[in-house]
Amino acid sequence: MKILSIETSCDETGISLLLVNKKNDFKVLGNELSSQAKMHSPYGGVFPNLAKREHIKNLPILLDKLVKKSKIDLKDIDIIAVTYGPGLEPALWTGITFAQELAKKYKKPLVPVNHMEGHIISVFGKNTGSFSIPKVKFPTLSLLVSGGHTELVLSKDFLSHKILGATLDDAAGEAFDKVARMLSLPYPGGPEISKLAKEARRIKNNFVFGSLGSHDDDEQRNFSAEKFRADRNKIIDTYPSFPRPMLKSKNYNFSFSGLKTAVLYFIRKVEPLDEEMKKAIALEFENAVIETLIYKTNKAVEEYKTKTLIVAGGVANNQFLRKEIKKNIKGVEILFPGKGLSTDNSIMIGLAGYFQYMKNPKKYTSKTKIKAIGNLKLK
Ligand code: KG4
Ligand code: ZN
Repeated sequence: MKILSIETSCDETGISLLLVNKKNDFKVLGNELSSQAKMHSPYGGVFPNLAKREHIKNLPILLDKLVKKSKIDLKDIDIIAVTYGPGLEPALWTGITFAQELAKKYKKPLVPVNHMEGHIISVFGKNTGSFSIPKVKFPTLSLLVSGGHTELVLSKDFLSHKILGATLDDAAGEAFDKVARMLSLPYPGGPEISKLAKEARRIKNNFVFGSLGSHDDDEQRNFSAEKFRADRNKIIDTYPSFPRPMLKSKNYNFSFSGLKTAVLYFIRKVEPLDEEMKKAIALEFENAVIETLIYKTNKAVEEYKTKTLIVAGGVANNQFLRKEIKKNIKGVEILFPGKGLSTDNSIMIGLAGYFQYMKNPKKYTSKTKIKAIGNLKLK
């Protein structure tokens, strides 16, 4: 079976072609991805109408490349999977319309896919070569952290989910992007902040900024009590200390807008920012977000006794988050997306589309009704 999949929910245009050899055995026949991040950079976030225009321009170009490189005739594909939400509706519609035209032209079943289901399944894929999906110990707990979402999701299988908690305001990635903007760093801000935080973490004595930072072996080795006291006094007056939001709440919800505001007020107090201060802010901000994510995730792992923890979405690219999760969350198998599959991509949409289709093949035709749903929820 060959699956053509299309992703246009935000600022990445993705088209890929997956071959299913036998049940759960996949081969990537082609994978094209075009990021608009640079274009949106001046806006500090994704500008929906610009995203729409770029998707419309990119889709036929990427499809053409895919067909040429994979040497597959589109007549030979079996199903077309396309993201229908959540995301920016003008952007979602471009992918849906494109998929509908192809489905009609080649008379192929059209399968609508929930983008977040794609992120969950992304940890089982690869963006090139062959892979097979292992036997998964359900229920899984997924920490989904992207530019638009921060959710803890319990899944009975690949297609049945319950959202345990979600952000009440900004998503984790969005907070990274907004704080990056305050520090005059380009969009997407996550990688920029984490670069600065990493440098700061490496600087001797930074362990005093955040409890998580203090686990670093180098820092431990270089520890000197006297220097610590002297630096701490200096640092307490100068360096930021941001709140860890929602740790006391009894539910699994998150909130990052208070943290963002704390960063803003701190910046106003200490402006103009020098490079050292930018690093200190990035470090303390990253520590605050990561501590919060880990605390809530750990609580859910314990309460629901899950055996598998999935961490996915753009923020799952963050290497410090990965390291801290592995260090602080025990007793579960932890899965992260492979290369190129944390941020938005169409491989994950093809995989989710496959499971959707296999559950009920008769449900899908070339005329499957699809509507873009910006705030689509997992269920
Ligand atoms: O999943 P994604 O590609 O798009 C959405 O569905 O939103 O996630 C993009 C988000 C952006 O907010 C970006 O800043 C964040 O993921 N991100 C990171 C890192 N890499 C990407 N955040 C923190 N650390 C990173 N290394
Ligand atoms: Zn996403």
